[in-house]
Amino acid sequence: MAETRVGSIEEDIGEVLITREEIEEAVARIGGEVTRDFRGEPLIVIGILKGAFAFMADLIQAIDLPMEIDFMDVSSYGTSTTSSGEVRILKDLSTSVEGKSVLIVEDIVDTGLTLSYLTNVLKSRGVKKVSIATLLTKPSRRERAVDIDYCGYEVEDKFVVGYGIDYAEHYRNLPYIGVLKASIYEK
Ligand code: IMP
Ligand code: MG
Repeated sequence: MAETRVGSIEEDIGEVLITREEIEEAVARIGGEVTRDFRGEPLIVIGILKGAFAFMADLIQAIDLPMEIDFMDVSSYGTSTTSSGEVRILKDLSTSVEGKSVLIVEDIVDTGLTLSYLTNVLKSRGVKKVSIATLLTKPSRRERAVDIDYCGYEVEDKFVVGYGIDYAEHYRNLPYIGVLKASIYEK
């Protein structure tokens, strides 16, 4: 169980990787691209819980199109070192996706297992088109090919937190993307 923490979260951050301004730039850029690309199509935007909630909230406000929104929560089987490639759906959609264009919103694409699985699940449900928007990608860690349509920033192989992304369920409320001090992991 995550320990109950007290005090400032900023003092645990060793390095700022993506500033708040850079996040805002990416949101505006991707929002504009989606607005241009999906005009005239029934659109459903699906956020992957919990990490994508912050990006999702900002991104949908940068898209000037009619849309529905929904959420899915998924978890990988196995540990991070022994990933079986299987993904479990913890919370499924409450909306029908059949015949609609789907935009999946993710916080970070790492091994690609989650999104390669989800893309196949949604295709099997008869969606018209599946597109992917992610704030971050770590291409050096990829095990499954993922076709990313909209990407904020590429990051190197470092464990990042903030703007929805957690370490042991904490730091999601940090307003930018950072890397924790090594001392935090050693606790
Ligand atoms: P994938 O299936 O390996 O691509 O998993 C992607 C998921 O792993 C993301 O949605 C995150 O929840 C988590 N993840 C990957 N990299 C990081 C990181 O650097 N910090 C926190 N969570 C991460
Ligand atoms: Mg996630």
